[in-house]
Parts: sequence; C-alpha cells; structure tokens
Amino acid sequence: MIFEQIAVGKMSNFSYLFADEISREGFLVDPAFDHEKLLEVIKKHSVNLTRIVLTHHHFDHVNAAGQVKARTGAEIVCHKETARLLQGETSEDRLIDEGDHFKIGAAEISILHVPGHAPGSICLIVDDKWLVTGDTLFIGDCGRSDLPGGNIETLYESLQKIKKLPDHLIVCSGHDYGPARSRTLGEEKRLNPVLLADSLKSFYKL
Ligand SMILES: [Fe+2]
Repeated sequence: MIFEQIAVGKMSNFSYLFADEISREGFLVDPAFDHEKLLEVIKKHSVNLTRIVLTHHHFDHVNAAGQVKARTGAEIVCHKETARLLQGETSEDRLIDEGDHFKIGAAEISILHVPGHAPGSICLIVDDKWLVTGDTLFIGDCGRSDLPGGNIETLYESLQKIKKLPDHLIVCSGHDYGPARSRTLGEEKRLNPVLLADSLKSFYKL
C-alpha cells in the first residue's frame, strides 16, 4: 500500500493519501489548504484518485476538497451529518456510515462513526494497519468537544470504541499536535491520558 502523511496549512493539519501499489487506485483523506501540494503527491505516485474521504465537516479538513475533485474526478465521501454541515462549494457525492467498507486493490477500508468532536466524525481502518482518526484522537490527546455539534459524553463513548481496536494499528490523526507524528494505538492506550481515563467522570476532569 502506498501511504503518505502530508502536512498542510498553518494549523498543523495532516491530509493522508492511500493507494494500491499495483492498480494505483487511491483515496485522499481531509484535503485542505494546499491542493497543489496534494495533487503533486498524487502525481508523484501516479495515483488514480477515486475517493476523497472527509473525517468531519470542519473547514480545516475540507477546504481543498472541491479543487482536488475538480482536478481528479474523485468523488467526495462522508457521513450524513458531515454532509448536512458542509458549507460553500464542497458537497458530498456519496454517504458512508458505521460498518461500511470499501476496497482499494486487495486492501479493505472500514468505517467507524465516532461522534463527539463533530456529529459526523468518522475513523477509517485501512488494510488492518492504519487507523485514521481525524480530530477524534490526536497523539497524546483528543479533539475538543465544545465546538457547535460537539458533545463530551459522545466523545468519551467514541474513545471507548477506539480503545477496543487492536494495538498494532498506526494512529493517523488530523493534526500534528503531539510529541510524534504518529504512534501505534497500543502506545496511545499506554500513554494518552484521554484513553487512560476509565470513567466519564475522570474524562470530564481532563
Ligand atoms: Fe475539527
């Protein structure tokens, strides 16, 4: 699998490119701020981009989706709550929800609905190797729940859902906010206070 973590913009955002090495079919997660940079990475790997997946509706994760779609023909895919909240030029072509799957070459990509930071937040498990978390889980922290549509209790429940996933997954978060650009989910379970919180009460305190 081709994998690239791409730093974009001035808010320490990450976009992600995944593609099959043989067919070159690929998808991009959270294109923002710098469509030319993202298109260059796509070109460098000779990727045929078929999907643009949005982890949630916040502008710093979607504001280059329209330009990337116009230049590649890829369809924009997101949760229905993200579609409801998208503004401006970007709109979805296809909805995805908890339990949905799609394939890129031999690799399977599955979707988890993880509301709390935003109502339409999703995680992607890619090829049983990577876990794309958007702003739900950062390295060493989690996203805020006090923005419109956020909810601390649902965020806590979503983090409990993530905690049940296998340790070997590599966490690919939506921002470069932590001590490393990525860590395994096993490391996050050992080191990240928001995953160590064992009750809603202790999560509230954090
Ligand atoms: Fe966000």
